Amino acid sequence: MITLEGVTKQFGTVEAVRGVDATIREGEITVLIGPSGCGKSTLLRMINRMIEPSSGRISISGEDVRNTPPELLRRRIGYVIQNVGLFPHYTVFENISVVPRLLGWKRPRIEERVTELLDLMGLERSFAQKKPRELSGGEAQRVGVARALAANPPLLLMDEPFGAVDPQNRARLQTEFDRIQKQLRKTVVFVTHDVEEAIRLADRIAVMRDGRLVGHSSPEDFIRQSAPPFISEFLGADYSLNLLARHRLRDHYRPTRGTARGTGNPTLPETASVKEAVALLVTRQLRELTVHDEAGAVLGTFTLDCIKNLFGGESGGS
Ligand SMILES: Nc1ncnc2c1ncn2[C@@H]1O[C@H](COP(=O)(O)OP(=O)(O)O)[C@@H](O)[C@H]1O
Ligand SMILES: [Mg+2]
Repeated sequence: MITLEGVTKQFGTVEAVRGVDATIREGEITVLIGPSGCGKSTLLRMINRMIEPSSGRISISGEDVRNTPPELLRRRIGYVIQNVGLFPHYTVFENISVVPRLLGWKRPRIEERVTELLDLMGLERSFAQKKPRELSGGEAQRVGVARALAANPPLLLMDEPFGAVDPQNRARLQTEFDRIQKQLRKTVVFVTHDVEEAIRLADRIAVMRDGRLVGHSSPEDFIRQSAPPFISEFLGADYSLNLLARHRLRDHYRPTRGTARGTGNPTLPETASVKEAVALLVTRQLRELTVHDEAGAVLGTFTLDCIKNLFGGESGGS
């Protein structure tokens, strides 16, 4: 858990971050979002002491970060930035093993770890001997993530990590990162100015404006609690519709007993998103559709009633 208390950063006359209080939960992705220049990177970089706050306090698992020397802190915290910052004259292997080498790991352990990370990131093992210039943007970004994960830090700071990648590769990186995170359960602070990216990845969204934290909740709660105008405007009119893409039909249908057949309804697999289901209902002007499992067996029906608690129900859980 990361705790921020009254964290402020002044650059000369510019107040980049103003009195931010927040608790960042363990094992979750907190997405820090807001317009360019609102202080996201500054706030992120104060967590690993690349920037020192002008005032306020940051602690990780109860320990004030000021008690840990910056170099040590940075070995314990993974950090990924846009355009990766891979060392150009190092191979992929050498880039990924920077922190393990600093930590004095033995060669066989490093080799094992690099192989494991290449596999995890969906990169061929032969990439280990390539130089960064031989990689595509998406591949380089994967190496950047692998490098940040190398010494298995519990905490990962990511500053627009996929920002320089083309939209298609960016979507793939997001999907892969989401899958990896479900396995690893790191505490992640992820900076972006892209609302769709936030919707895809966030367990919690923290919205910044002019150096202040103006909203911090689960993605669904911004709708349940009717967010203030700046936030709803920033999130955009299609925010709630896009949120439906986070939910799978498997969690939102009414089960039918036995094998219902011949209803004539269109069917969707349980792995389809609620957004797809709603789009199908709306475009075909239907009241319900049939949900089936991977083998094609009928599981139940989906109607709009099935999601009435998604935004309108109790706030809280995510
Ligand atoms: N090293 C610095 N010196 C002076 N001003 C800075 C410095 N770093 C950031 N700023 C200013 O602080 C504000 C917040 O910047 P930043 O945290 O990079 O915003 P974001 O990441 O949200 O785009 C901006 O006005 C920026 O110009
Ligand atoms: Mg920034």
